[in-house]
Amino acid sequence: MAKTSGNEYILIIDFGSQVTQLIARRVRESGVFSQVVPCTEAGQALKQSAPSGVILSGGPASVIGGDPPRLPAEYYASGLPILGICYGQQTMSADLGGSVESARDREFGRAEIEIAHECKLFDGVWSKGESHEVWMSHGDRVVNMPPGFRVVAISKNAPFAAIADEARNFYGVQFHPEVVHTPDGSRLIKNFTNDICGCSGTWSMAAFRDKAISQIREQVGEGRVICGLSGGVDSAVAAKLIFEAIGDQLTCVFIDTGLLRVGEAEEVRNTFQEGFNIPLTCRDAGDLFLGRLSGVVDPEEKRKIIGTAFIDIFEEEARGLGEVDFLAQGTLYPDVIESISPSGGPSATIKSHHNVGGLPERMKLSLVEPLRELFKDEVRVLGRTLGLPDSMVERHPFPGPGLAIRIPGAIKPELVGTLRKADAIFLEEIRMAGLYGEIWQAFAVLLPVRTVGVMGDERTYENVCGLRAVTSEDGMTADAYPFSHQFLDTVSGRIVNEIRGINRVVYDVTSKPPGTIEWE
Ligand code: XMP
Repeated sequence: MAKTSGNEYILIIDFGSQVTQLIARRVRESGVFSQVVPCTEAGQALKQSAPSGVILSGGPASVIGGDPPRLPAEYYASGLPILGICYGQQTMSADLGGSVESARDREFGRAEIEIAHECKLFDGVWSKGESHEVWMSHGDRVVNMPPGFRVVAISKNAPFAAIADEARNFYGVQFHPEVVHTPDGSRLIKNFTNDICGCSGTWSMAAFRDKAISQIREQVGEGRVICGLSGGVDSAVAAKLIFEAIGDQLTCVFIDTGLLRVGEAEEVRNTFQEGFNIPLTCRDAGDLFLGRLSGVVDPEEKRKIIGTAFIDIFEEEARGLGEVDFLAQGTLYPDVIESISPSGGPSATIKSHHNVGGLPERMKLSLVEPLRELFKDEVRVLGRTLGLPDSMVERHPFPGPGLAIRIPGAIKPELVGTLRKADAIFLEEIRMAGLYGEIWQAFAVLLPVRTVGVMGDERTYENVCGLRAVTSEDGMTADAYPFSHQFLDTVSGRIVNEIRGINRVVYDVTSKPPGTIEWE
């Protein structure tokens, strides 16, 4: 029988995969709340809560040798349904009497699996004898199943691509159902959460909003909160959510870093002060940011300097307001997962996003980050449930460090001015072509490389401008947008003709991975 949505949720044990949060997201898409807990806190989590089922993530560890992270034995005795994914499948198999070995041929990317048996996980999705596409990413593989299990799917390099012990409701898959490259993956996860774990599937973003509002009230109490607005979707949604929770206890601060796009500062003032009536302080700090960044070349150093400058100014503004206890930020899950492992599990650092890894130790304000577990498109849905206009929730993301991470090498005010113009032309053309909504993020980059050109009868020796436009679901993976040559030709022509300092335009066709979206 289906449980009520009030207390049903799936516990996700994080063994350090880069995509653990995609599992959380797929579960939520099935209408079930989910919570990610690091494997190091799994024992405690089970004592303190009553989940409807458990999913074990993948991870970089190997169950062979060393001291791999394990699932506490209480889980297997709890009677809860368990789904192990990749490392999760391997650790479950090893714990329950099966064995794992290092595969001679590793599988990365798309693979075909063959369905060997019907199984509750596949109900209504896959049938015996069929072949289906899945996403694999593994070196180790299960070679002997634990007693009680049977194989339900095989692939070329994983004889136990999916295994099941339906009596105990234990399931293991070597592939990754949480990534979009496993086309039926979300339906398998829904089978697990709704059919196998018995959840009703009635959780929604409105439920998240109500819970977040009460959590903010509980965290903040009578305290005062200061919120940094960047002009982007995330900080706008965070501010509106916090305003709903605590009203005038919130003051928003907008810092013009001198690293913003054309018209951005005015737009923020208009929307927040006039549109929402939210208390807003504006601060012009371009000289301070550009001064501190002068001569700095290393991307990580730039991010740290910007993070520190932001916090310094917030602290000053906070002092000006009197007693302030909390700093609110629109930090999202992708910002967190690539800086540290958000839930304490073992995962690798790619970049320190300014609002996470760049925070100075001495910061005196406590953080309120109500969007920390959400992906960008979930934040957009939340924004709509809060009544924000489409023009605001549909905006492309813009990074906290702004144009500083779009000028590789040393930043100079004149370079920022040049880049700002190129960026404006690119976005204007995208809007005019009706492509803005199709593209997840688009921007220009100014390269510290000069090349020779010819304009009229004159030789030119100026900088290169890179254009980047991607489609993405959540910023974790992305593909370059396939513009027509004609469109790129128009943009290139305008940039080179209208802007002094750029004589060549290139289009970045790299996907993420292996590239990141930003160049730094
Ligand atoms: P990357 O470059 O990591 O970018 O593939 C993924 C998404 O995150 C944005 N981004 C940032 N956002 N602070 C932010 O608020 C940052 O430091 C930061 N760095 C990257 C990026 O624009 C893209 O949308």
